[in-house]
Amino acid sequence: MSANLFEPYQLNETITLQNKIVMAPLTRSFADEDLVPTPAMGDYYARRGDLGLIITEATSISKVAQGYPNIPGVYSKEQIVAWKSVTTKVHEKGAKIFSQLFHAGRLSHKDFQGLTPLAPSAIGFEGRIPRTDNWQYGTPKEMTIKDIETSVSDFVQAAVNAIEAGFDGVEIHGANGYLIDQFLHLESNKRTDAYGGTPEKNARFALEVLDGIVAAIGKDKVGYRLSPHAYLHMSPTEGDEKNFDYLLKEIEKRDIAYLHTGVFDDHEVVPYLGGKVSEYMRKNYKGTLIANGSYTIAEGTDLMNENKFDLLAIGRSLIANPDLVEKTKNNETLLAYHNDMLTELN
Ligand code: FNR
Repeated sequence: MSANLFEPYQLNETITLQNKIVMAPLTRSFADEDLVPTPAMGDYYARRGDLGLIITEATSISKVAQGYPNIPGVYSKEQIVAWKSVTTKVHEKGAKIFSQLFHAGRLSHKDFQGLTPLAPSAIGFEGRIPRTDNWQYGTPKEMTIKDIETSVSDFVQAAVNAIEAGFDGVEIHGANGYLIDQFLHLESNKRTDAYGGTPEKNARFALEVLDGIVAAIGKDKVGYRLSPHAYLHMSPTEGDEKNFDYLLKEIEKRDIAYLHTGVFDDHEVVPYLGGKVSEYMRKNYKGTLIANGSYTIAEGTDLMNENKFDLLAIGRSLIANPDLVEKTKNNETLLAYHNDMLTELN
């Protein structure tokens, strides 16, 4: 194990992380009925405050963005106030914390929001919404230009709110088949207007969200999570990679805080990307890269030492081990993760 992992990492001129271990965003559904984060959530994040960076669970940018029960939001006054005490508790321990800004798009349900869910095209995803009483996804409504403009401004306002709540920055959730990703994949985006049909048009929504947020809170405070490999809530289509080839180069020009792989298992070689997701991103993007996806600390550290990526995000093992940093430093065995650990917020 290299000591390098525990050295600080300078993300940019304004943010330095106390080490190179990142908490991956993990939806836990412990917010209250108004999607307000609770004090227990603050304690949960603070227990992990010796990490370099914590990325919160997916956080709704508006009422219509919600995709799961009891996820937190960052659009109401009460939510902003409650997040402030979460960020304060985390900062006392030294970690930085970014809010993961989320819009579910077609992976929502009218019972969350009173409206038919929005998506680039009226193409539904078949399946049941996790953590609900057998709610099924339906056919979404194709977004009008006005809907698109509203969503972009909701993202921007949520980013402003997050900074007001004391977050060090935001991660735009462009991964895992949710709204932004729905624009980026050919299976879910059949538009023929300015938002679909060519790589530039498919990537337009993703970049409008980014540019709006950068203009509002500054480039140093923005990260982007992407899933060029459609592995979740989506099937890959040949040609998808062209959208990402274009998008990564455009994001690189914006010089943001980091790019983050959105993939469950980064060992998988994706033929149309020419390698693993992290390898594809490293090849096409020069800035800070956070890799994640079924890595152990030991393996991730080796790969960082080989300069395959800059920071290592850990998900499930941090649910099982709030004291992962301490245990790793002391060479202690980590507890194995089980899905039944999701019922409690330890
Ligand atoms: C996730 N993941 C996830 N990803 C994301 O971008 N936003 C989210 O809110 C969530 N929520 C979530 C909840 C739970 C219970 C799991 C298990 C996963 C994906 C997560 O960030 C990560 O990519 C995967 O868990 C793979 O990394 P590990 O767990 O192998 O380190």
